[in-house]
Amino acid sequence: MKSNILTVLNLLIALLWLGCGNDNGEFGDYRYRSDMHEQSSFKKHEDPRPPVAGTVPVRGFVEKVRDSLAAARLVNPVRHTAANADSGRFLYQTYCSPCHGVGAKGDGLVAAKFQKPPDLVAPKYVKAPDGYIYFVIQYGRLIMPPYYEAVKFRERWLIVNHLRSLQR
Ligand code: HEC
Repeated sequence: MKSNILTVLNLLIALLWLGCGNDNGEFGDYRYRSDMHEQSSFKKHEDPRPPVAGTVPVRGFVEKVRDSLAAARLVNPVRHTAANADSGRFLYQTYCSPCHGVGAKGDGLVAAKFQKPPDLVAPKYVKAPDGYIYFVIQYGRLIMPPYYEAVKFRERWLIVNHLRSLQR
């Protein structure tokens, strides 16, 4: 009789244990397992931490551009070389060609369903300063989305250089 009661109790406890709580070790509002949860690593979708005051960039100076006029005066710090041409092409084809087309004529696959972008090999954009194109990549323009998160500083200049090679 006594062992029967114990078996039933054990069974109940086992069922409770199996049926309650979730994978995060939570039981309602109560966290019964917090060993790996409370830690300094990033949670999903958490913003990156701001750098410590006084931090200097390790890859040199990063331009701050206030507006397109200031941007137009920026000097392109990245030279187009045989060694970095592939990176520029890869970045352009990844981030720009879906709309602007592989040859920058404004005939990308997305353009067919979206607003057709301008022809970037036209004289108007041949004349546009490197810094202006850098600025458009960073902030977007009207309907074009900004790419500052996806395309970082040096990468923007590599794309500008690739665009120049398409214009030649
Ligand atoms: C989602 C589609 C899309 C993507 C991706 C895109 N663009 Fe654009 N882009 C546009 C559209 C649309 C316009 C026209 C914007 C307007 O004037 O309304 C435009 C305009 C431009 C212009 C001309 C701006 C001006 O002053 O007339 C430049 C330069 C440009 N894009 C460069 C780029 C580069 C470089 C990339 C890749 C980093 C890129 N775009 C990615 C859609 C796109």
